[in-house]
Amino acid sequence: MKLLVTGGGGQLGRALTRLAVAAGHELRVPTRAELDITDDTALRDACTWAEVVINAAAYTDVNRAESERDAAFAANATAPGRLAEHCAASRSLPIHVSTDYVFDGRAERPWRESDATGPLNIYGESKRAGEDAVRAALEHHLIVRTSWVYSETGRNFLTTMLRLGAEREELTVVADQIGTPTSAEDLAAALLHLAARARGEEGPFGTYHYSAEGTASWADFAEAIFAKAGALLPARPRVTRIDSSAFPTPARRPAYSVLDCSRIVDDFDPPRRSWQDGLSAVMARLKLQEVG
Ligand SMILES: NC(=O)c1ccc[n+]([C@@H]2O[C@H](COP(=O)([O-])OP(=O)(O)OC[C@H]3O[C@@H](n4cnc5c(N)ncnc54)[C@H](OP(=O)(O)O)[C@@H]3O)[C@@H](O)[C@H]2O)c1
Repeated sequence: MKLLVTGGGGQLGRALTRLAVAAGHELRVPTRAELDITDDTALRDACTWAEVVINAAAYTDVNRAESERDAAFAANATAPGRLAEHCAASRSLPIHVSTDYVFDGRAERPWRESDATGPLNIYGESKRAGEDAVRAALEHHLIVRTSWVYSETGRNFLTTMLRLGAEREELTVVADQIGTPTSAEDLAAALLHLAARARGEEGPFGTYHYSAEGTASWADFAEAIFAKAGALLPARPRVTRIDSSAFPTPARRPAYSVLDCSRIVDDFDPPRRSWQDGLSAVMARLKLQEVG
């Protein structure tokens, strides 16, 4: 398939590149420097070539978005809408990636696609507006909400924990936010699975949730990282669990953002594994890089 992936320099973009190359797809993966999705002419030209466009580009700095609303909305709302319009014009399939942060976190069971959204921060608002713009542009779209994405590269919770864990014997980590850590690699595999099945068919289309299986707090995630780090760290740091009230940030975050993924499983049956197994695979790659 002719596959365009925007945001090629990000953690999802890189994971998609690795897997799509291995799968033999005809692939274009421009970085932000090569394709700024807010440049509408360049975006249209890029979309015209593709059969499937995975939008992995986004303004993802959740705290900074609080003071950069326009920039967040330009990349996360306006551009995805235009991208979907270009796909409609060239009869290609847009797969737009969205977030658990469209929800307010006040749930007692995993979030379903049909649940009311209620973002707590500007990033979540901008992502919700992006979803709405994609839905308005064409019926044949896929929106995939995911959660707590990490990988061995870039700035994310895993790389931050490993950096701080190398410097400190003890780390304080928030224990009252619950979600599902999802490796960029696992998300990329699921998106490519969807791309292969949805292309050129009558459906299914619409909004889906995809994450790894299981739930964790950030403190649980940190403990698991340190338990699996082995020789990547000089010693195993202690994790002290704190409430988010003790760690104020510019953006509020949802307390509970576990996603109910039964719809995507029923309709597409994508590859999916526990968050612990996904983490083990990423840690194994990191250790190989260390050795190499
Ligand atoms: N990370 C998470 O925990 C998480 C959770 C749920 C959903 N998501 C969603 O998953 C998707 C992938 O995120 P990610 O984790 O891979 O984030 P990421 O590592 O921050 O990658 C995003 C990429 O998009 C690029 N970008 C930003 N603005 C752009 C623009 N105007 N034009 C082209 N590229 C642009 C960024 O470039 P620069 O670095 O140069 O800005 C970066 O390379 C996003 O839709 C995100 O909202 C992420």
